[in-house]
Amino acid sequence: MEELMSNRMVISSSVREAGNDPIFHIAELAKKRIAEVGHEPVINSTIGSLMDDDGNLVAFDSVYSTFRNLKDTEIAAYASIAGIPEFLENVVYACFKHHKPDGYIEAVATPGGTGAVRNAIANYSEIGDEVLVQDWHWAPYGTIAQENRRKITTFELFDENGNFNFKSYENKVLELLEKQKRILTILNTPAHNPTGYNISDDEWKQLVEFYTKTANEHPDWRIIVLCDIAYIDFAGKGESARQFMEILSGMPENVLPLYAYSASKAMTMYGLRNGALLCVAPTQEIADEFKASCSFSNRGTWSNGTRSAQATLAKIISNDQLREAYEAEQADWRNTLQTRAKAFMDSAKEVGLKTCTYRDGFFISIPCENREAIRDYLADQKNFFIVALKKGLRFAPCAVNEEKCGRAPALIKAAIDKFD
Ligand SMILES: Cc1ncc(COP(=O)(O)O)c(C=O)c1O
Repeated sequence: MEELMSNRMVISSSVREAGNDPIFHIAELAKKRIAEVGHEPVINSTIGSLMDDDGNLVAFDSVYSTFRNLKDTEIAAYASIAGIPEFLENVVYACFKHHKPDGYIEAVATPGGTGAVRNAIANYSEIGDEVLVQDWHWAPYGTIAQENRRKITTFELFDENGNFNFKSYENKVLELLEKQKRILTILNTPAHNPTGYNISDDEWKQLVEFYTKTANEHPDWRIIVLCDIAYIDFAGKGESARQFMEILSGMPENVLPLYAYSASKAMTMYGLRNGALLCVAPTQEIADEFKASCSFSNRGTWSNGTRSAQATLAKIISNDQLREAYEAEQADWRNTLQTRAKAFMDSAKEVGLKTCTYRDGFFISIPCENREAIRDYLADQKNFFIVALKKGLRFAPCAVNEEKCGRAPALIKAAIDKFD
């Protein structure tokens, strides 16, 4: 009845608010200010991509020289539904490098990490289920879950010392397992968005013990652990950040580790939409089932991925010279990012600005109360554009040069003192 009265054409569960993306809005304001006063006086910390010191998007030469050498037909053709074979072979290295875990590994190409998260949610949680994510988290998890008629629920990422909060996590996992008999738990690590937290290898060992014990006690339960590694190549030295992958294996057959690999940040391929969902299955049967379900999902959503992006990754990873050039370029930018983040964290310490535990990555988070008022004040009064999240502010060293990274904490601290 209500439907007939409202002139609404979409179904009730598809009614959405238009244009309410908070990051997009503040990013637009920053762009406008830069157009008015120039780049120099503005700190634009709203962008989630790697930018050079002058605020231009970084696009790796090693990637785009390979891309430009593709034949027109390699760009124009469809990819296979699961991804072109050369991509599927080489994305395994791109994901695990020299830390390939024991197990039956399969990969299915997806449009970015977003597609990988989508396929994991659609195939490893029931309609109506709650998917477990960190309380500080990438907001689209909620969108993807909702779009697929699921929900997200959260645990507290940090304990009182700023380390992984096992109590909160384990309680929530067990609560959901009792209720749903299966759980899909998404852990965005290392270089977590938005805090920069890395789950340490010791913490992973404890998690593996917990999964193993729980799974052995309840063979009818299903535990699916999705590691969202979107930023992994900007953590540690890239390679060392992958040690945990070998820890997360050898568990009972009712535990399945999955990996959402994204070429967006790793290869500066944001708009080319390239990534993969990979499984490290305990049996061939579970790996085959993964491949069949995720390929079917591809066909039923985006059909297939971007062939040129898949071919570029395959050519780079399979050729020693190209791969070394790519990894060297990536390492240079990782160093730049780490230098910028250090400038921010050192100066945060100096001025007494409290942040979430930051180890690596594109973002640093600052817990605070009146974050929208602080964001607006900084934008209006200080030419400083920062993102307000549910639990605080998100600063982006990926997009801000070292000098501005060093200056930002004092501005944030003064604003927090004024409003909180
Ligand atoms: C935490 C996290 N996961 C996954 C993604 C997926 O990105 P894309 O679909 O561009 O690969 C992003 C992108 O910002 C992210 O921040």
